[in-house]
Amino acid sequence: LLGPARDQDLKGLRVVVSAGPTREYLDPVRFISNPSSGKMGFAVAEDARDRGAAVTLVTGPVTLPDPPGVQVVRIESALDLRDAVVKAARDAQIVVMTAAVADYRAAAAATEKQAKVAGDVTIHLTPNPDILAELGREKGDRVLVGFAMETHAGVERAAGKAARKNADFILLNYPTQAGTAFGGDDNEVTLVRADGSHEAWPRTSKREVARRLLDEAARLLARR
Ligand code: CTP
Ligand code: CA
Repeated sequence: LLGPARDQDLKGLRVVVSAGPTREYLDPVRFISNPSSGKMGFAVAEDARDRGAAVTLVTGPVTLPDPPGVQVVRIESALDLRDAVVKAARDAQIVVMTAAVADYRAAAAATEKQAKVAGDVTIHLTPNPDILAELGREKGDRVLVGFAMETHAGVERAAGKAARKNADFILLNYPTQAGTAFGGDDNEVTLVRADGSHEAWPRTSKREVARRLLDEAARLLARR
């Protein structure tokens, strides 16, 4: 059921993974979201599980089924994602934020379905909390990993994010790579640290990216 026997190198560790998109409702039947499939985060959760970790997977709405042997928390909004991740992260050693968190939510979501009006409409949005940055402010000995999709100046922008959010590293990818990123089964990422140092990993399956990510996180953890 849990796949082939593997090295239990993460036994005794708690790993928290966020995955998928968030939904920010404008009214009861409409929301702002993005096409994140959740595949990358589910792959990290499954790999950590197979290596013996206790895994909590906090996921926005995706079509993937719950992975067996993983504690799955299904949420919709960024605020709910924050609550679930912060709670689970308290006794975790590794936190991986693959979730595509919506940067904004409605300042005041309508409680009733909004009828259309003639002409243009303005929606007032307010920023969501930055969950990774929040975890970074009370980091302790945890290893924190983020993801970033950039269209330009990728390494520079990802390094800036790692620094600002106090993340150990960010896995950077580009939306233009066919078969990768949104919805694909493969990924082609560059590991980027806050100091700007970086290494490009070859294009491979999301599961293999997950394996390498956890290898790196375990290495960093062993040094603390
Ligand atoms: N992230 C988060 N909370 C948010 C936004 C992002 O925890 N409100 C996390 C993501 O899960 C990801 C990392 O931060 O691991 C980078 O996300 P990204 O959207 O690239 O960063 P932003 O700071 O939102 O920058 P941008 O303006 O480029 O969207
Ligand atoms: Ca963002």
